[in-house]
Amino acid sequence: ECMLKTNICGIEFKNPVFLASGIMGETGSALKRIAKGGAGAVTTKSIGLNPNPGHKNPTIVEVYGGFLNAMGLPNPGVDEYLEEIEKVRDELNRMDVRIIGSIYGKDEEEFAEVAKKMERYVDIIELNISCPHAKGYGATIGQNPDLSYDVCKAVKKAVKIPVFAKLTPNVTDIIEIAQAVVDAGVDGLVAINTVRGMAIDIRAKKPILANKFGGLSGKAIKSIGIKVVWDLYENFDVPIIGVGGIMSGEDAIEYMMAGASAVQIGSGVYYRGYDIFKKVCDEIISFLKEENLTLEEIVGMAHE
Ligand code: DOR
Repeated sequence: ECMLKTNICGIEFKNPVFLASGIMGETGSALKRIAKGGAGAVTTKSIGLNPNPGHKNPTIVEVYGGFLNAMGLPNPGVDEYLEEIEKVRDELNRMDVRIIGSIYGKDEEEFAEVAKKMERYVDIIELNISCPHAKGYGATIGQNPDLSYDVCKAVKKAVKIPVFAKLTPNVTDIIEIAQAVVDAGVDGLVAINTVRGMAIDIRAKKPILANKFGGLSGKAIKSIGIKVVWDLYENFDVPIIGVGGIMSGEDAIEYMMAGASAVQIGSGVYYRGYDIFKKVCDEIISFLKEENLTLEEIVGMAHE
């Protein structure tokens, strides 16, 4: 329905309910299934310059309130992945579904190189500087304001399309990091990546994940994400995409009232199916009608 049309950085989305980067973004056919489930945009799995097998199994375990994962950024490398996008790009376009290209790299040069290759296949570049458990990548960058600045600056220089930075909640002062990436010129912020966590197999007497620790997603992290989005909205003027534990329209609205212009869903696909996007959209529409509000009005509404 047209009630949910959203414009972010000059890009039109049919609705503000997107797929988060992760497992469902690994192949073209998975992106297509999500698009058919009603998402306004799909975010790719984070893609690097070279193929990466990721961490050893087990890489994911269901825990109280969500999943703990340490996939380790597995992906076929940008050149091969672009063929996946190519296979489904026209069909996604016909469905009016935008593509967000998530990328990672070991340094600013690598980020810029992948971003340049990705640019003409996607609508927005999302910089994953926030994976909690990929040594030398991810949060190694996103926990350091200077490294975060350099990566964002280099990518902004390399491409013309909007660039968003995805932030890690695993820091003492997220405003300091966000300030650095905003100073570097990013067009928007995505918050949050997963929360560092661990689970132990008490019979085996050792951590369950081969990587020992990982990142927690799902219901358990929603209130952490809401607080981060709230703080970002209070401090910056760029659009925010909220992510972390969104299962329902009510959850999405909570993120929007905290300041998110759009939301992303990852773990929720497991609990409510591929068409969670359509379900969440319907739930948002019901709320807007009941309260006689527009989407625009609810963004940031909980602040004064
Ligand atoms: O929790 C996460 N897992 N966050 C990321 O950014 C990457 C992913 C992985 O591949 O390990």
